Amino acid sequence: MKAIDMLEDFPKQFEVVKTEKVKVDQYKGIVFSGMGGSGIVGDFMRLLLGDGVLSISIKDYKLPSFVEKDWLIVCSSYSGNTEETLYILEEALRRGIKPICISSGGKLRDIAKKEGLIHLPLPEGYPPRYALGFMLSTLLCLFGMEESVKITREHLQQHKESIKEKAQDIAKSLYAYLPIVYATPLTEPVATRWKTQINENSKTLCYNATLPEMHHNEIVGLENPQIRNLCSFLMLCDPEDNPRIIKRVEITQEIFKDLGILLKTIKGEGQTLIERLAYLTYVGDWVSFYLAELYHQDPLPVKVIDFVKRSLRD
Ligand code: F6R
Repeated sequence: MKAIDMLEDFPKQFEVVKTEKVKVDQYKGIVFSGMGGSGIVGDFMRLLLGDGVLSISIKDYKLPSFVEKDWLIVCSSYSGNTEETLYILEEALRRGIKPICISSGGKLRDIAKKEGLIHLPLPEGYPPRYALGFMLSTLLCLFGMEESVKITREHLQQHKESIKEKAQDIAKSLYAYLPIVYATPLTEPVATRWKTQINENSKTLCYNATLPEMHHNEIVGLENPQIRNLCSFLMLCDPEDNPRIIKRVEITQEIFKDLGILLKTIKGEGQTLIERLAYLTYVGDWVSFYLAELYHQDPLPVKVIDFVKRSLRD
């Protein structure tokens, strides 16, 4: 399938799936383990589960020692063969924990079968990062949030054409610059997704920073005109950001105005957090696609990721 077709169909990936259900209050905490396109789902889920649930997202080989049998572990790997995630799974099994696995196949599915673990299947044939909607829908259903899946699908479908227009303009403003994507605590995973999609689809560098932390370092770096003139700046924010964060967004805009540089602010649209996060994510996915076009790049191949994975196997 072509990248453009997968992007066009992204809203349709939000489909209610039949899964086992987990009750978060039965666990001391939740670990989301996954890398790249399969790791970002954990970051989204942490935000959506809210701060009443103790949760961590692991993008590494190491399962923290405080994670014991009373924790829920969710291992996501689209291919099912990502070694960091498989290490976490093996370590969890050694500790007597039975993770829930989500993949389109691979070793994750084989191990889940052998160990009698819950395995949630994903449709095959997608590059992992293009299967975000399937992964998110599956996890939302696992946590009993089926309604969120339905509203997100409708919301994205409804706004698709205006999202594409917006994305085309943004891509033009990023062309030939280093994109810097700022976030608030409520948009942080989306900014990460923008970064990784621009890296993998547009084949170019992109960096993030998040408020309030960036007010304690990043803004000083803006003083260097030689470097800041090489960058194009965006800020992703949410209407429900903490009022102190909204104040900080305004202060950041003033700082940029005084420096005579443009900071384009993009707000998530929608009634609920999931709709707004999905909206901003979809804008970013299209931005990375249009930016790939401007650079004459094929958005699909990620040769160097394949090279690293092959080199690790040899
Ligand atoms: C490729 C992509 C990568 C992968 C990552 C982990 O489309 O987005 O970031 O997601 O290398 O691989 P999986 O998802 O198979 O565990």
